Amino acid sequence: MLKEVSGHTKMMGTVGHPIVHSLSPLIHTALGIKYNKDLVYLAYDITADKAGDFAQAMRTLGILGVNITMPNKQAIIPFLDEVDGMAARCGAVNLVKNVNGHLTGYNVDAAGFMIGLEQNGISVTGKRVLLLGAGGAARSLVEEMLDHKVGSICILNRTPEKAEELCAGREAFSFGPMEPERMAQEAAAADLIVNTTSLGMAGTGADYTDFAFLDRAHCPVVEVVYYPLKTTLLLEAEKRGLPIVKGLDMLIYQALLTFEIVNDVKCDFAADYAFVEKLLLDEFDRQEREKAAVR
Ligand code: ATR
Repeated sequence: MLKEVSGHTKMMGTVGHPIVHSLSPLIHTALGIKYNKDLVYLAYDITADKAGDFAQAMRTLGILGVNITMPNKQAIIPFLDEVDGMAARCGAVNLVKNVNGHLTGYNVDAAGFMIGLEQNGISVTGKRVLLLGAGGAARSLVEEMLDHKVGSICILNRTPEKAEELCAGREAFSFGPMEPERMAQEAAAADLIVNTTSLGMAGTGADYTDFAFLDRAHCPVVEVVYYPLKTTLLLEAEKRGLPIVKGLDMLIYQALLTFEIVNDVKCDFAADYAFVEKLLLDEFDRQEREKAAVR
């Protein structure tokens, strides 16, 4: 899919290292065509030490907006003119919008997660959440869930000290190690279970090995890992009759939020979700066929 480029065409992009496997160019090029926006969306390979140079390049070249990914989510912050409240609380920026050289940083990852829950009929208000993992993704989800008046959160992590840090000074928060007995106990009490670890992600070779904790659960299981489409955790949850929310939802809704903010448009979440989901599923199929042909 390529759009026609003219002298009026503006740039958007994604900034990270490595970046060649990003799905964002595909998504935003399609959205640009759908919404009749004259833009191209490129992947910029930028290491953290070049974050400042990139911010200046955005101003010089008039790049409209960029998603920010590893390893630049923190590195870009000192070079921005303004950081939105949620991004400041998360300590991480995943979107920069450029208005006449004024750069504002946002974090729409967790907002995308929350829209995914809402679209699946799930609310966190007053609920007890079991959060698995305590990295960058967990941190932004905690902030977003607090905004939505979550009841309580228990954070279990391989390195419990990191979970403890996330809990510091917060009432109704608890933490612990990711051990089978504790996981089972917390899963039984939870209204929602969310995986924010990289366990189950294709290519990492690491996955949950013991799913007995799900036997005692009676609530939806939400994933942030989007590839494979259904991680072992989600498959095991389904086997037990638990509702699931795929990691792809968060990816798609954060992309729609990005597109809205940068282009000042209102997306139709239901229709655009289906549009982008089809695009991504076709792309995953294409990649699988390509891999099979090489084997
Ligand atoms: P992200 O920004 O995606 O959250 P991150 O900040 O590197 O990435 O966090 C990765 C999370 O996955 C952490 O909670 C990490 O646990 P540790 O804090 O103990 O490192 C978790 N994780 C990664 N590999 C894991 C593994 N093999 N077993 C258990 N947890 C793992």
